[in-house]
Parts: sequence; structure tokens; C-alpha cells
Amino acid sequence: MDRIRIVGGNELKGVIPISGAKNAALPLMIASLLTSDTLTLENVPHLADVELLLRILGNHGVDVSVNGRREHQDGSYARTIHFTCRTVADTTAPYELVSKMRASFWVIGPLLAREGKARVSLPGGCAIGTRPVDLFIEGLQALGAEMEIDGGYINATAPKGGLIGATYNFPKVSVGATHVMMMAASLARGTTVIGNAAREPEVVDLANCLNAMGAKISGAGTSTITIEGVPSLSGARHRVLPDRIETGTYAMAVAMTGGDVTLQGTDASLLDTALEAIRRAGAEVTETPGGIRVVGYGSEIRPVDIVTEPFPGFPTDLQAQFMGLMTRANGVSHVTETIFENRFMHVQELARLGAKITLSGQTARIEGTRRLRGAPVMATDLRASVSLVIAGLAAEGETMVSRVYHLDRGFERLEEKLTRCGAVVERISD
Ligand code: UD1
Repeated sequence: MDRIRIVGGNELKGVIPISGAKNAALPLMIASLLTSDTLTLENVPHLADVELLLRILGNHGVDVSVNGRREHQDGSYARTIHFTCRTVADTTAPYELVSKMRASFWVIGPLLAREGKARVSLPGGCAIGTRPVDLFIEGLQALGAEMEIDGGYINATAPKGGLIGATYNFPKVSVGATHVMMMAASLARGTTVIGNAAREPEVVDLANCLNAMGAKISGAGTSTITIEGVPSLSGARHRVLPDRIETGTYAMAVAMTGGDVTLQGTDASLLDTALEAIRRAGAEVTETPGGIRVVGYGSEIRPVDIVTEPFPGFPTDLQAQFMGLMTRANGVSHVTETIFENRFMHVQELARLGAKITLSGQTARIEGTRRLRGAPVMATDLRASVSLVIAGLAAEGETMVSRVYHLDRGFERLEEKLTRCGAVVERISD
């Protein structure tokens, strides 16, 4: 199993190209199941989760062709992938595949809409909470589907003639359930109105792509989304939006180590709340043509309290990284997690580096310390693992992060991007 060795202490200086967003790419890829034409996605990141979803889609009959990666002078890659699902080969998504990544459960929406039935294993993914699927079940039931749980699988069946548009208000905001409802309702008869919809940029990206495929979706990015069903969708070409979580992660790394880095190919409006928190912590964050420049001062970090919330609030996917930053603040800060009930597994690993964190329910109290010391630590989930990497960059001496397969699910060429900016980071393959 690979490990990552970090020798901390260096400031970060240079340019980091930001990849396409994993959390946009996954639902966009799944949308290819909605049409027999070719969906072409540009700027698809090269990540373990994307590769796994390619396998899953292949199983459903999607023909995939990947254009060679073009490497640009600034070190960025652009990957274009063509997806064609002439006919759906299999409406079952098996446990062996779905258990590895929660988002693969989302195939239930397109399969049900296009084929009238789907049998999908209950999901797996990061162990950051119970992550039920009740909202998917209720939402699809509202569109007329029969939903039955049987032997760890959900059997979903559409009414004769297909799903029927309806009004459905989510009792809780869910990104995944909003994606699935938009995809399913695009091919339903009549109009669907989704209330309390997720407003994340990735929802807007999916809506834009579906509209390019011929769907009639309005209101994405607000909490009410209206979808007028159409009989069929066609192919389209769409560029995956930049990864706001990767952007925020590197911005926090610079704030923590000090230095001057331009994050290229990203957009500040995707993460206003997180950037504001980084500014309040003392780093300078400015927009540049095509990116964001972050100047950090390392030792002058101010304590800032944050609470995770659905978009446009502070993203839960940046909570662990921000906590890492706060471990070096000049004072006490509080981080409150409201989205996932078990998303504090990084606390005990950060403590191994010398962080002083106490947990009380959903709130962590962080007493900043000037000095973190390198130590062996273990990655526990995707975002937690990167918080350990950035803390390691700011710690004295060597930090060895094990179980880095978590990182590979969501961060493209992390070691390379950081090394180009002067960090000492290397992958050790055992
Ligand atoms: C997506 C993101 C993930 C991010 C999360 C919240 C992808 C691939 N993943 O995950 O990185 O951390 O949004 O921003 O885009 N819930 C229910 N019932 C359901 C569905 C969800 O109670 O049927 C709960 C979840 O347990 C959680 C909350 O709703 O407490 C939000 O989860 P959700 O927005 O659905 O997260 P994902 O879409 O899985």
C-alpha cells in the first residue's frame, strides 16, 4: 500500500493547476446513461473514483473512449472522455461496485427514467456517517416509482409509461438526491418541482449539461428547481467545472505554510465562504485572471470559528483542512460539523502531530500551537487524509501518511502539484 512522506517546513511558491471537480464529474458521467447519443466531457480529472465509475458505467453498457491526456506547459492536464450508451446492457448495479463508492448509487435515477427499472445495491463510500438513502427513495416515489428494499438492494420500478412529474420538497438538503431527481425528472412526463434542493455549484453544472442535452431545467443554484420532462435527451459536449474543494485545500495549505501560490483554472465564486474564512485567518486571497492568488504568512494565523453548512455555507469537504489550519492559529477556534455526524476522524491523527483538539458533540475546540511535529499518521477518509498532508507540510520534520488510497480517490497528482511549489512530498510504494 502506498504511503506519502512529507518533510515539513518549506513555504509554498508557484502555480498549482486546479483539476476538474470530482463531485461534478461523477454525476455528469452518470448522466450519459440518459441518452443513446454520445456525451463528451472535457476536463475530467484522473482519480480513482472516476476510474471506478468508468467500470461501473461499462457494466451498464456505456462505451467509453478516453482522449489522450494533453499536458500543458503549466503542468495541467486536460482529459476528454466520450460516453456512449446505445442500449442499457444491465439495469443492476452490483454490491461489489456500489459498495466502493457512494455516488455510484446515483445510477438509479437515469436507469429508472430510461429503462423503467433499476436494481441498485445500497451504497458504501467514505465512513463519515450513516449516510442513508431515504431521500432518494421518497423523491423517486414522488415521481411514481415503486421502491422496494430486498437483500441489500433497492428495486425501483417506474409506472407503465414512465415516471410522472410531481412536486417534491426535500425534508433535508442532499446533493446526491438533488442530482438523481434532476436526472430522473428530465425524462418524466410533465413538470417536476423540487423544493429545498441542494444549491451546490455541481448541481448547477449537472443542470447545465442536462440542458445542453435537451432537458428543460430552470432554477438550479436556487432552492427550487423546475424540470419540464422531455421524451428523450441527446448528446452534448460539456466542460467539468473546476474543483472548489481542491482549490480550498491548496489555499489552506498556503495559509498554513506561508508562501505565495496562484491556483490556476479555478473560480473564487465557487467557494466564497471558505475563502472568506481563509482571509479572516490572515492570508491574502485575491482573484487573478483565470484563478486565485493566495499569500500566506504561516506563523501569523488568526483563530476563526466555522460551521459547515450546505452551499453557500462553509463546505463540509473543507472542514478537516480548515481544522488543520486552525491547529497553528494564535488562539482558540471552534469547528462545528452539521452535515455528517462522524466527520472528526482526523482529530486523533492531527493530535499525533501535536494539535490540541477537544471534541464536544459536533463541535471541535482547537487550541492553536506554533509548533506541529511530524509523525506517522493514517488517512481515514478522503478529505481527512488531505488535512494530514497539509498539516505535515507545516510541521517540523517528517510525516508519513499511510492508507493514501483515500487521497487518490479525490486529489489528482497531489505530490507533483505540491512538489512543483517547493514542498518535500514523495510517494513511497511498498
Ligand atoms: C456529496 C459529496 C460529498 C459532500 C456532500 C455534502 C459527491 C460525490 N459527494 O455527497 O463530497 O461531502 O455532498 O456536501 O458529490 N442524507 C440523508 N438521506 C439521504 C441522503 C442524504 O439523510 O437519502 C443526509 C446525509 O447522511 C448527510 C446529508 O444528508 O447527512 C447530506 O448528504 P448529501 O448531500 O446527500 O451528500 P452526498 O450527495 O452523498
